[in-house]
Amino acid sequence: MGGNITFSIIKPNAVRTGKTGPILAMMNEAGFEISAMKMVRLTTNQAESFYSVHKGKPFFEGLIEFMISGPVFVMVLKHENAVEEFRKLIGATDPAKAEPGTIRKMFAVSVQMNAVHGSDSDENAAREADFFFTASERFL
Ligand code: RTP
Ligand code: MG
Repeated sequence: MGGNITFSIIKPNAVRTGKTGPILAMMNEAGFEISAMKMVRLTTNQAESFYSVHKGKPFFEGLIEFMISGPVFVMVLKHENAVEEFRKLIGATDPAKAEPGTIRKMFAVSVQMNAVHGSDSDENAAREADFFFTASERFL
């Protein structure tokens, strides 16, 4: 059983096209509670640092350009076994492979513009949450 927090981003394409409310509703429906949330526009440095594990991959530059293209919502979510449960809720990276009823199946438009991010481990959830939020900005 994993930890009880994960970190998520509602990505620029989803914010731009008015999907923030419907995505938050799906998170709520699935039992995730919001511990912290804010709207920000990532700087190039922030985006490169956040996705530094992908540096050098063919999609890296496009990914950074996309992630800084408009405001996003960053958030810390609480749920039992949060990382794994949230990855199930968002579905596969490629929306064509995502299960019906997942957030990406419903709102992603491509592998790159896939609507949401979800941490892939407890360690990364903690690192990503600390990257965007101070202790006094987190609740629950
Ligand atoms: P994320 O980190 O955003 O939650 O997505 P993920 O774990 O499902 O996928 P990951 O392998 O970590 O890739 C990070 C993001 O990079 C973009 N990507 N584009 N064009 C491509 O082949 C490609 N592959 C990955 C996606 O936006 C993916 O979410
Ligand atoms: Mg990832």
